[in-house]
Amino acid sequence: MLLPFQFLISCLSAVRLVVAIDNSFFTSVDIRDVTTSYRHVLDPEHWFMIEAELFVCAGQDKDVFLSIPEDFTSIAETPFNLLHKSQAVGRVVAQDNIVKISFPNPPSRNITASFKIVAKLSKDALVSIGEPQVVEYVFHSSQGESFKEWLNYVGKSMDEVTVNSGHYEHNRTTWYTVDVPITQLDEPVIIFSEPRTDAYTKIHTDKTRCELVTSVDAFNEATEWVPVKPIEDLSSENAIDMTFDKNLEGFYLRIIYFAERLDRAANSGQVNFQKRLSGEIDSEREASEGADSF
Ligand SMILES: *[C@@H]1O[C@H](CO)[C@@H](O)[C@H](O)[C@H]1NC(C)=O
Ligand SMILES: *[C@@H]1O[C@H](CO)[C@@H](O)[C@H](O)[C@H]1NC(C)=O
Repeated sequence: MLLPFQFLISCLSAVRLVVAIDNSFFTSVDIRDVTTSYRHVLDPEHWFMIEAELFVCAGQDKDVFLSIPEDFTSIAETPFNLLHKSQAVGRVVAQDNIVKISFPNPPSRNITASFKIVAKLSKDALVSIGEPQVVEYVFHSSQGESFKEWLNYVGKSMDEVTVNSGHYEHNRTTWYTVDVPITQLDEPVIIFSEPRTDAYTKIHTDKTRCELVTSVDAFNEATEWVPVKPIEDLSSENAIDMTFDKNLEGFYLRIIYFAERLDRAANSGQVNFQKRLSGEIDSEREASEGADSF
């Protein structure tokens, strides 16, 4: 008569085993413009980095979920590791704006872990940001938390030089723009800009063009422009080096150039910009780049 009793015991322990452990919770969610690492966004077409942190309790074996607001799209669906101090403690996979975190090997102790995903704004979301504003995004988790995070969409400065860049993966070409407000052209200036990447890059000098922006939208982005030519152009495959006349009328001068990236490994780089007045460095600015290679 021992056998049925033993059978009952083993059934009970089996039942115990399938009671899922689920005391984990999210502690933070953060969104940033990948290119600048700021929540102030000059170019809403950049990639955004969404970083979530969570407390994972010992033995967690139930999946947890985080919803990403519908405004975000282009989220890669390839699974990747959930990390705790660069050690894999779970698996993360995103699908239809729901991020699922599973624990094939439940952790043996309480830990904190985090993951990052990159996303772009959807076409509808881009259209709805018609003027500079702060937009709030709400993230909900399966564990009951919700996080309200904001991005501040700001207009281009009309006092300072701004630089921007992005990457076309299909032909491995990086584009750069350098926008110089007309107020900065109070004297003839020399504009010097060079892509700075870990790898060697080569500027396609024949594709460089300069435009005088004559009309702008609510974000001071160009809506109308005319081609202009520098009074002197000493540009090479390594750098843009141009001198402009002071007698230009409009909002800003835009230099657009393209560079070929010769090393696939380099996913990020910078633009080095200098404006020189009568041989002296008047201002210098750097902007990071490389977001679009995700
Ligand atoms: C782990 O976290 C759970 C849930 O917050 C808590 O009840 C438990 O005491 C913690 N265990 C240890 C060893 O810190
Ligand atoms: C790469 O593609 C972009 C967009 O299609 C294009 O504007 C650019 O000129 C191309 N670059 C080269 C070197 O062909």
